[in-house]
Amino acid sequence: MLAPIALALLVGANAQTFRRAAACPGLVCLWPPSTSEFIASQTFDIRAEVHAPVNGSEAYANGVVDKEFTIYIGGEGAELVPISQFFNVPEPAVATHNFTYYEDLFARDARAPVPVNAASKSYRNLQLRNPGRYRVVVTTKSGLRNEAYWEVRKPCDAKAKNMIFFVGDGMATSMISAARLLAHKTVNGRYQSVMKMDEA
Ligand SMILES: *[C@@H]1O[C@H](CO)[C@@H](O)[C@H](O)[C@H]1NC(C)=O
Ligand SMILES: *[C@@H]1O[C@H](CO)[C@@H](O)[C@H](O)[C@H]1NC(C)=O
Repeated sequence: MLAPIALALLVGANAQTFRRAAACPGLVCLWPPSTSEFIASQTFDIRAEVHAPVNGSEAYANGVVDKEFTIYIGGEGAELVPISQFFNVPEPAVATHNFTYYEDLFARDARAPVPVNAASKSYRNLQLRNPGRYRVVVTTKSGLRNEAYWEVRKPCDAKAKNMIFFVGDGMATSMISAARLLAHKTVNGRYQSVMKMDEA
């Protein structure tokens, strides 16, 4: 699993219009997001981003981003240790970028975007070899935090005997309704017969 690029993920912060990505419940983002599931020894990336909005409802430190942050990981009940120590990989350099977004449609109509400064770290090509539940915590020096749980599953060692391949083409609700309308007579809005798939 590849950690996706940051910009696409800050899907707006506020209210009813735009919803936050699962990885970014607050000003600290963590990929893979909480409740992610892996197969043991699957290769994946870990990425954390710390955001500092310059203004808007989540304005933080005048937009000065906290570049001192650490990602910790630990198995169920085990002590949390920094990612680089846990996986025995070098600590990556902190990268910075910035972007803007609209908090809601009012802000968009008013052309009042929120500029955000961000700091990030990515660890690539990692593998968790032991199945189980893992806890991952990002903390910044200034006290921001995000926490996730990942589930690593044992690979299945049973052999497949048959494979059934479903192609769901043309099976959206609207298409099924259209097929029903074309093929079955209605009287006063009531179908007089039903499709095979409606019988159950
Ligand atoms: C935002 O990014 C651009 C280019 O990536 C850079 O030139 C600019 O200095 C950055 N602004 C801030 C406030 O960091
Ligand atoms: C935030 O500041 C920028 C200028 O830095 C401004 O263009 C924008 O309208 C402001 N946004 C809000 C939501 O106040």
